[in-house]
Amino acid sequence: MEFFIDSADIEAIKELNAFLPIDGVTTNPTIITKSGRQPEEVLEELTEVLSEDQKIFAQVIATDYEGILAEAHEIASLRGGKNVLVKIPVSREGLKAIPVLKAEGTGVLATGIYSADQAFWAAKAGADYLAPYVNRMCNYGDGVGQVVELVDTLALYGLDAKVCAASFKNVDQVHQLLAAGTPAVTVAPDVIRAMVDHPGTAIAVDEFTANWQKAYGRTTLRA
Ligand code: E4P
Repeated sequence: MEFFIDSADIEAIKELNAFLPIDGVTTNPTIITKSGRQPEEVLEELTEVLSEDQKIFAQVIATDYEGILAEAHEIASLRGGKNVLVKIPVSREGLKAIPVLKAEGTGVLATGIYSADQAFWAAKAGADYLAPYVNRMCNYGDGVGQVVELVDTLALYGLDAKVCAASFKNVDQVHQLLAAGTPAVTVAPDVIRAMVDHPGTAIAVDEFTANWQKAYGRTTLRA
């Protein structure tokens, strides 16, 4: 399975990438604006802090078919095209652009997905990844359940698209989708930190160290 960081915060990406086996970074226009920096600068830095084996996902801003294709070509040329994928919203224009980009060999993630039905069409159009917005879907019903069902539906029809569940707001949403075998997730740094840093672990480690210190007068295995 693949685990991506959903962020354009370079410091947070460096922090997490230093100790977790991260498969890449997803961005969207809002995420990039939140960085308070110019998009070219952010994308360039992403290519510097990530290895070529780690995927970078950047989204088109244009909403018309020709504009989507032009921006997709620009994004796909980043880092010589190595593991750079284009995010395309599943609008009518976006769905029209996806097979064209696929035929050209461009990696595509269909985004802005609010239902398993939209995801189904994007998969049929040839998208490599499908990003259902889990938390936003939860505002309308069982977002987690719909995504689990989507993974099964794709398998049923032998559609190659991978679900990359997105828009998580808490650890439990991620947990449920990981437990259901979702092939990829993209998660914001604060939720990733909450998955990793359990206060109980810190307390246990402090206790081990204190007991060792008391018994042997040192905090290392050997003197
Ligand atoms: C993923 O790449 C999506 O764009 C992102 O997870 C959306 O998250 P939001 O619902 O917090 O905007």
